[in-house]
Amino acid sequence: MDKKNNDINSFYSTENGDFNYLYSDHIDFSQILFETLEPLFKEYKVKTVIDCCCGVGNDLKDLFQKGYDVYGSDLSLNMVNTAIKNLKKENVPTKIIQSDVLYINKNIKETFDLVVFRGNALGHLSSDEQKKAIDNLFGITKNNGLIFIDFRNGEKYHHKNKRFELRGHGIDKHNSEIYFSYYILKHPKNNFEQYKIKSRTLIFDYKKIKIRLVCSKIEANYVIPDTIIDRIKCNNGKILFEKSVENGLQHLQSLIILKI
Ligand SMILES: C[S@@+](CC[C@H](N)C(=O)[O-])C[C@H]1O[C@@H](n2cnc3c(N)ncnc32)[C@H](O)[C@@H]1O
Repeated sequence: MDKKNNDINSFYSTENGDFNYLYSDHIDFSQILFETLEPLFKEYKVKTVIDCCCGVGNDLKDLFQKGYDVYGSDLSLNMVNTAIKNLKKENVPTKIIQSDVLYINKNIKETFDLVVFRGNALGHLSSDEQKKAIDNLFGITKNNGLIFIDFRNGEKYHHKNKRFELRGHGIDKHNSEIYFSYYILKHPKNNFEQYKIKSRTLIFDYKKIKIRLVCSKIEANYVIPDTIIDRIKCNNGKILFEKSVENGLQHLQSLIILKI
């Protein structure tokens, strides 16, 4: 396994069940976003969807419940196995494979009505790789189909030089746990270098009266909107929907692109 794959696999470790705690704000935000986008998906007659960084399968579950045929892939084998397990439990029929988005065209031969690449997965790729990822997403999208991406706006993120970011907190009644999670960030001098993320999730099991701390770290790349938008234009894409959320826990810029 190469270093990138290894880092991503361990950063998104699900052994301790902390993924949904770290991204609980993202899960809520995604559900609202999918509701907002329903009319657009209907207008473009979306039936088949692939999520190319499906994580633990949260978006696939939502999309299946809205009536779409769903497929998934992810670079991390940890994530693929967890998504398969989670979706089986929820009776979601789907096929999920392990693939880097940079090789997705080799691993998947079909094209889809909607191609999803969300949760700032672009931040795990270098600037050149981000361009290749956009090209590849276009490659597996049907003509007149849609691509849904989101990313942290690297220019604003770097500029703010924020050191601490509250990620999520709440009570998980199913697992009888109370959780609190945050990032500690280290930004470089310019936005062409990687920034460092340390994630911390503090979990209190109130049945067993036990506390555990889940720690992980990774380096990531800033995503510069102009780079992404230029690449979309190179692929003849048209931006149909744009949402930038800067309040609360969210810092994501979401785009829906039409492949002409
Ligand atoms: C923050 S998670 C987001 C998961 C999911 N899309 C969501 O929004 O909840 C980022 C995901 O991107 C995956 N990922 C990172 N780099 C990738 C790549 N090059 N190709 C495919 N997936 C990748 C990670 O394994 C992880 O599951």
